[in-house]
Amino acid sequence: MNAIAALKRLVAPRSAGGFSLTPELIGDIFRHARPLGHHEDRESLNLGFGFLYYGVARTLRPEHVVVIGSGFGFSVVCLALALRDNGLGRLTFVDPSYSVLAHGPLQTMGGTSQWDDATRVEARFARFGVADVVTHHRMTSAEFFARYDAVCGGEIQLAFIDGNHSYANVRADFLGCVRRMRRNGYLLLHDTNIYIRELVRHAGVKTWLRRVARHKDAFEAVDFPFSSGVALVRVLEDEAWQRLEASSS
Ligand SMILES: C[S@@+](CC[C@H](N)C(=O)[O-])C[C@H]1O[C@@H](n2cnc3c(N)ncnc32)[C@H](O)[C@@H]1O
Repeated sequence: MNAIAALKRLVAPRSAGGFSLTPELIGDIFRHARPLGHHEDRESLNLGFGFLYYGVARTLRPEHVVVIGSGFGFSVVCLALALRDNGLGRLTFVDPSYSVLAHGPLQTMGGTSQWDDATRVEARFARFGVADVVTHHRMTSAEFFARYDAVCGGEIQLAFIDGNHSYANVRADFLGCVRRMRRNGYLLLHDTNIYIRELVRHAGVKTWLRRVARHKDAFEAVDFPFSSGVALVRVLEDEAWQRLEASSS
Protein backbone atom coordinates (compact mmCIF):
# COMPACT_ATOMS: atom_id res chain seq x y z
CA MET A 1 0.00 0.00 0.00
CA ASN A 2 1.41 3.41 -0.90
CA ALA A 3 1.74 6.25 1.58
CA ILE A 4 -1.31 8.20 0.38
CA ALA A 5 -3.55 5.12 0.56
CA ALA A 6 -2.22 4.30 4.02
CA LEU A 7 -2.91 7.85 5.17
CA LYS A 8 -6.45 7.70 3.85
CA ARG A 9 -7.12 4.54 5.81
CA LEU A 10 -6.02 6.29 8.97
CA VAL A 11 -8.61 9.01 8.47
CA ALA A 12 -11.70 7.44 9.83
CA PRO A 13 -13.95 5.77 10.56
CA ARG A 14 -15.93 8.08 8.34
CA SER A 15 -19.28 8.96 9.79
CA ALA A 16 -22.02 7.13 7.98
CA GLY A 17 -23.58 9.59 5.55
CA GLY A 18 -26.89 7.76 5.34
CA PHE A 19 -28.23 8.27 1.83
CA SER A 20 -26.54 10.73 -0.48
CA LEU A 21 -28.47 10.19 -3.73
CA THR A 22 -30.50 13.40 -3.79
CA PRO A 23 -31.97 14.60 -7.11
CA GLU A 24 -29.31 17.35 -7.14
CA LEU A 25 -26.51 14.86 -6.71
CA ILE A 26 -27.95 12.56 -9.38
CA GLY A 27 -28.08 15.57 -11.72
CA ASP A 28 -24.41 16.21 -10.95
CA ILE A 29 -23.55 12.58 -11.71
CA PHE A 30 -25.15 12.93 -15.14
CA ARG A 31 -23.31 16.21 -15.75
CA HIS A 32 -19.87 15.37 -14.43
CA ALA A 33 -19.50 11.57 -14.19
CA ARG A 34 -21.34 10.99 -17.50
CA PRO A 35 -22.66 7.43 -17.78
CA LEU A 36 -22.05 5.69 -21.09
CA GLY A 37 -24.07 2.53 -21.73
CA HIS A 38 -25.36 1.93 -18.19
CA HIS A 39 -29.07 1.79 -19.12
CA GLU A 40 -29.46 5.28 -17.68
CA ASP A 41 -32.14 7.89 -18.42
CA ARG A 42 -31.24 11.46 -17.67
CA GLU A 43 -34.74 12.90 -18.00
CA SER A 44 -36.14 10.74 -15.22
CA LEU A 45 -32.97 10.95 -13.08
CA ASN A 46 -32.61 7.20 -13.55
CA LEU A 47 -29.01 6.10 -13.06
CA GLY A 48 -29.84 2.69 -14.53
CA PHE A 49 -27.06 0.27 -13.57
CA GLY A 50 -25.66 3.04 -11.37
CA PHE A 51 -28.37 2.21 -8.83
CA LEU A 52 -27.26 -1.42 -9.03
CA TYR A 53 -23.61 -0.49 -8.38
CA TYR A 54 -24.63 1.71 -5.47
CA GLY A 55 -27.05 -0.90 -4.10
CA VAL A 56 -24.61 -3.81 -4.36
CA ALA A 57 -21.92 -1.84 -2.51
CA ARG A 58 -24.37 -0.73 0.18
CA THR A 59 -25.60 -4.27 0.63
CA LEU A 60 -22.21 -5.98 0.72
CA ARG A 61 -20.43 -3.26 2.77
CA PRO A 62 -17.06 -4.06 1.17
CA GLU A 63 -13.82 -2.89 2.74
CA HIS A 64 -12.02 -2.79 -0.60
CA VAL A 65 -13.49 -2.15 -4.05
CA VAL A 66 -11.36 -2.20 -7.21
CA VAL A 67 -12.52 -0.44 -10.39
CA ILE A 68 -10.65 -1.10 -13.65
CA GLY A 69 -11.32 1.52 -16.33
CA SER A 70 -13.82 4.36 -16.37
CA GLY A 71 -14.62 6.89 -19.09
CA PHE A 72 -15.72 9.78 -16.87
CA GLY A 73 -15.94 8.16 -13.43
CA PHE A 74 -19.57 7.01 -13.38
CA SER A 75 -18.94 3.56 -11.88
CA VAL A 76 -16.32 4.96 -9.49
CA VAL A 77 -18.66 7.66 -8.19
CA CYS A 78 -21.69 5.35 -7.76
CA LEU A 79 -19.58 2.81 -5.86
CA ALA A 80 -17.63 5.38 -3.83
CA LEU A 81 -20.85 7.12 -2.75
CA ALA A 82 -22.05 3.79 -1.39
CA LEU A 83 -18.82 3.39 0.59
CA ARG A 84 -19.15 6.91 1.91
CA ASP A 85 -22.77 6.24 2.91
CA ASN A 86 -21.70 2.96 4.51
CA GLY A 87 -19.04 4.86 6.49
CA LEU A 88 -16.61 2.11 5.55
CA GLY A 89 -14.33 1.04 2.73
CA ARG A 90 -11.78 2.25 0.20
CA LEU A 91 -11.91 2.21 -3.58
CA THR A 92 -8.85 1.59 -5.74
CA PHE A 93 -9.33 2.95 -9.26
CA VAL A 94 -6.98 1.82 -12.03
CA ASP A 95 -6.94 3.64 -15.37
CA PRO A 96 -3.99 4.64 -17.59
CA SER A 97 -6.01 7.56 -19.00
CA TYR A 98 -6.00 6.37 -22.60
CA SER A 99 -7.90 8.23 -25.26
CA VAL A 100 -9.28 6.65 -28.39
CA LEU A 101 -7.75 9.47 -30.49
CA ALA A 102 -4.22 9.16 -29.09
CA HIS A 103 -4.07 5.42 -28.41
CA GLY A 104 -6.52 3.95 -30.95
CA PRO A 105 -9.56 1.66 -30.69
CA LEU A 106 -7.53 -1.44 -29.82
CA GLN A 107 -6.47 0.18 -26.54
CA THR A 108 -9.69 1.91 -25.59
CA MET A 109 -13.19 2.73 -26.77
CA GLY A 110 -14.83 5.61 -24.99
CA GLY A 111 -11.58 6.81 -23.41
CA THR A 112 -10.88 10.56 -23.53
CA SER A 113 -7.83 10.94 -21.25
CA GLN A 114 -9.82 12.06 -18.24
CA TRP A 115 -7.24 10.85 -15.70
CA ASP A 116 -4.00 12.55 -16.80
CA ASP A 117 -3.76 15.16 -14.11
CA ALA A 118 -3.82 14.17 -10.42
CA THR A 119 -5.22 17.52 -9.26
CA ARG A 120 -8.11 17.36 -11.71
CA VAL A 121 -8.78 13.73 -10.82
CA GLU A 122 -9.01 14.67 -7.14
CA ALA A 123 -11.28 17.63 -7.95
CA ARG A 124 -13.60 15.39 -9.97
CA PHE A 125 -14.10 13.08 -7.03
CA ALA A 126 -14.14 15.87 -4.43
CA ARG A 127 -17.25 17.28 -6.12
CA PHE A 128 -19.05 14.18 -4.92
CA GLY A 129 -17.41 14.13 -1.50
CA VAL A 130 -15.53 10.92 -2.25
CA ALA A 131 -11.94 12.11 -2.80
CA ASP A 132 -10.89 10.47 0.47
CA VAL A 133 -12.53 7.19 -0.55
CA VAL A 134 -10.92 6.89 -4.00
CA THR A 135 -7.26 6.36 -4.85
CA HIS A 136 -6.46 6.56 -8.56
CA HIS A 137 -3.49 4.69 -10.06
CA ARG A 138 -2.56 5.84 -13.54
CA MET A 139 -1.51 2.54 -15.05
CA THR A 140 -2.94 -0.39 -16.99
CA SER A 141 -4.55 -3.22 -15.09
CA ALA A 142 -1.64 -5.49 -16.13
CA GLU A 143 0.82 -3.09 -14.48
CA PHE A 144 -1.47 -2.83 -11.47
CA PHE A 145 -1.71 -6.57 -10.86
CA ALA A 146 2.02 -7.03 -11.44
CA ARG A 147 2.67 -4.61 -8.54
CA TYR A 148 -0.48 -5.22 -6.55
CA ASP A 149 1.00 -5.56 -3.07
CA ALA A 150 3.16 -2.45 -3.43
CA VAL A 151 0.40 -0.39 -5.06
CA CYS A 152 -2.52 -1.13 -2.75
CA GLY A 153 -2.56 -4.65 -1.33
CA GLY A 154 -5.28 -6.45 0.60
CA GLU A 155 -8.26 -8.57 -0.23
CA ILE A 156 -10.89 -7.41 -2.74
CA GLN A 157 -14.55 -7.89 -1.89
CA LEU A 158 -16.06 -6.16 -4.94
CA ALA A 159 -14.56 -5.47 -8.38
CA PHE A 160 -15.81 -3.55 -11.38
CA ILE A 161 -14.18 -4.48 -14.69
CA ASP A 162 -14.46 -1.99 -17.56
CA GLY A 163 -10.96 -1.47 -18.99
CA ASN A 164 -9.71 -2.98 -22.24
CA HIS A 165 -12.52 -5.25 -23.45
CA SER A 166 -10.53 -7.78 -25.46
CA TYR A 167 -11.06 -11.37 -24.37
CA ALA A 168 -7.46 -11.68 -23.17
CA ASN A 169 -7.68 -8.48 -21.10
CA VAL A 170 -11.07 -9.25 -19.57
CA ARG A 171 -9.82 -12.71 -18.64
CA ALA A 172 -6.65 -11.28 -17.06
CA ASP A 173 -8.61 -8.61 -15.17
CA PHE A 174 -11.13 -11.15 -13.92
CA LEU A 175 -8.42 -13.54 -12.76
CA GLY A 176 -6.38 -10.71 -11.22
CA CYS A 177 -9.38 -9.80 -9.07
CA VAL A 178 -10.55 -13.31 -8.23
CA ARG A 179 -7.04 -14.25 -7.06
CA ARG A 180 -7.50 -11.61 -4.34
CA MET A 181 -11.04 -12.66 -3.45
CA ARG A 182 -12.48 -15.28 -1.20
CA ARG A 183 -15.88 -16.94 -1.17
CA ASN A 184 -18.64 -14.34 -1.54
CA GLY A 185 -16.46 -11.88 -3.41
CA TYR A 186 -18.43 -10.19 -6.20
CA LEU A 187 -17.52 -8.84 -9.64
CA LEU A 188 -19.37 -6.56 -12.02
CA LEU A 189 -18.43 -6.84 -15.71
CA HIS A 190 -19.54 -3.97 -17.89
CA ASP A 191 -20.24 -4.29 -21.63
CA THR A 192 -21.66 -7.81 -21.81
CA ASN A 193 -24.09 -6.66 -24.51
CA ILE A 194 -21.94 -5.07 -27.21
CA TYR A 195 -22.64 -7.89 -29.65
CA ILE A 196 -21.28 -6.33 -32.85
CA ARG A 197 -17.87 -5.72 -31.26
CA GLU A 198 -18.09 -9.18 -29.75
CA LEU A 199 -18.96 -10.62 -33.18
CA VAL A 200 -15.88 -9.10 -34.83
CA ARG A 201 -13.75 -10.13 -31.83
CA HIS A 202 -13.06 -6.55 -30.80
CA ALA A 203 -14.54 -7.43 -27.41
CA GLY A 204 -14.85 -10.66 -25.46
CA VAL A 205 -16.77 -9.83 -22.30
CA LYS A 206 -19.78 -12.02 -23.06
CA THR A 207 -17.60 -14.87 -24.30
CA TRP A 208 -15.59 -14.76 -21.07
CA LEU A 209 -18.77 -14.58 -18.97
CA ARG A 210 -20.06 -17.76 -20.65
CA ARG A 211 -16.80 -19.54 -19.79
CA VAL A 212 -17.01 -18.41 -16.18
CA ALA A 213 -20.65 -19.52 -15.89
CA ARG A 214 -19.70 -23.07 -16.90
CA HIS A 215 -17.92 -23.49 -13.57
CA LYS A 216 -21.07 -23.84 -11.55
CA ASP A 217 -19.31 -24.98 -8.39
CA ALA A 218 -17.10 -21.90 -8.37
CA PHE A 219 -19.19 -19.03 -9.77
CA GLU A 220 -22.76 -17.92 -10.25
CA ALA A 221 -23.58 -15.14 -12.67
CA VAL A 222 -26.54 -13.03 -13.73
CA ASP A 223 -26.45 -10.88 -16.82
CA PHE A 224 -28.43 -7.67 -17.38
CA PRO A 225 -28.41 -7.49 -21.20
CA PHE A 226 -29.79 -3.99 -21.50
CA SER A 227 -28.01 -1.03 -23.03
CA SER A 228 -24.31 -2.05 -23.08
CA GLY A 229 -25.04 -4.72 -20.48
CA VAL A 230 -23.55 -5.60 -17.13
CA ALA A 231 -23.12 -8.92 -15.33
CA LEU A 232 -22.86 -9.65 -11.64
CA VAL A 233 -20.73 -12.64 -10.67
CA ARG A 234 -20.50 -14.21 -7.21
CA VAL A 235 -17.47 -16.25 -6.19
CA LEU A 236 -18.66 -19.45 -4.51
CA GLU A 237 -15.42 -20.79 -3.07
CA ASP A 238 -11.97 -19.70 -1.92
CA GLU A 239 -9.23 -20.08 -4.58
CA ALA A 240 -11.89 -20.11 -7.31
CA TRP A 241 -9.37 -18.71 -9.81
CA GLN A 242 -7.69 -22.13 -9.94
CA ARG A 243 -10.71 -23.59 -11.76
CA LEU A 244 -10.40 -21.00 -14.52
CA GLU A 245 -6.63 -21.23 -14.85
CA ALA A 246 -6.87 -25.00 -15.12
CA SER A 247 -9.50 -25.08 -17.83
CA SER A 248 -9.51 -22.07 -20.13
CA SER A 249 -7.26 -20.00 -22.31
C1 LIG B 1 -14.48 2.68 -19.37
S1 LIG B 1 -13.63 2.34 -20.74
C2 LIG B 1 -14.87 2.63 -21.83
C3 LIG B 1 -15.35 1.34 -22.16
C4 LIG B 1 -16.53 1.48 -22.95
N1 LIG B 1 -17.67 1.19 -22.09
C5 LIG B 1 -16.44 0.57 -24.15
O1 LIG B 1 -17.45 0.21 -24.65
O2 LIG B 1 -15.34 0.24 -24.59
C6 LIG B 1 -12.53 3.56 -21.10
C7 LIG B 1 -11.46 3.62 -20.08
O3 LIG B 1 -10.79 2.36 -19.96
C8 LIG B 1 -9.45 2.63 -19.71
N2 LIG B 1 -8.59 1.50 -20.06
C9 LIG B 1 -8.26 1.06 -21.29
N3 LIG B 1 -7.39 0.04 -21.22
C10 LIG B 1 -7.18 -0.19 -19.90
C11 LIG B 1 -6.38 -1.12 -19.18
N4 LIG B 1 -5.62 -2.01 -19.81
N5 LIG B 1 -6.39 -1.07 -17.82
C12 LIG B 1 -7.19 -0.17 -17.16
N6 LIG B 1 -7.97 0.74 -17.80
C13 LIG B 1 -7.97 0.73 -19.15
C14 LIG B 1 -9.15 3.84 -20.60
O4 LIG B 1 -8.00 4.56 -20.18
C15 LIG B 1 -10.42 4.65 -20.50
O5 LIG B 1 -10.36 5.67 -19.55
